[in-house]
Amino acid sequence: MAEILETKKDAALSEQYELLIKQIESLLSKDERLITNLANLTAALKQTFDKISWVGFYLYDGELLYLGPFQGKIACTTIKIGKGVCGTAAESGGTIVVPDVNKFPGHILCDPDSKSEIVIPMFKNNKLIGVLDVDSDSYNSFNETDKKYLEEIVKFLTEEIIN
Ligand code: SME
Repeated sequence: MAEILETKKDAALSEQYELLIKQIESLLSKDERLITNLANLTAALKQTFDKISWVGFYLYDGELLYLGPFQGKIACTTIKIGKGVCGTAAESGGTIVVPDVNKFPGHILCDPDSKSEIVIPMFKNNKLIGVLDVDSDSYNSFNETDKKYLEEIVKFLTEEIIN
């Protein structure tokens, strides 16, 4: 595909996600390396949504979550399972929406600008692969619509793209 991402900044949130997902389906490929797909996916999310201040993957190596492809400021390199929002989502196996990071016990402050966050864990064949972490520099940035579509994106990634 052409390396141009179409965005509709003024459209409804769901419409923006639908447009993004349509393009992600041709941007990502199971014939490409994992790091390539993850890198382009973080860029596509960051380009689409101005509310995202940081977006990236923490990948599971069997012991720890380690920093993978991301867009934004430099970040913590490793996170223990059960720690922070990322480690808690990895451990619980469910998406965590944090409207105010100051109110999440054990939140790991990588980026002082981060005010709200959503973390979606990624599993393949019931095995933890890592998490997708999306941060915003405003409070209450992520809602049920974000959760629904980000989970859909992670499902596409784990089921159709990652071998
Ligand atoms: N806040 C995350 C750590 C990762 S950074 O936000 C990039 C957490 O509590 O797990």
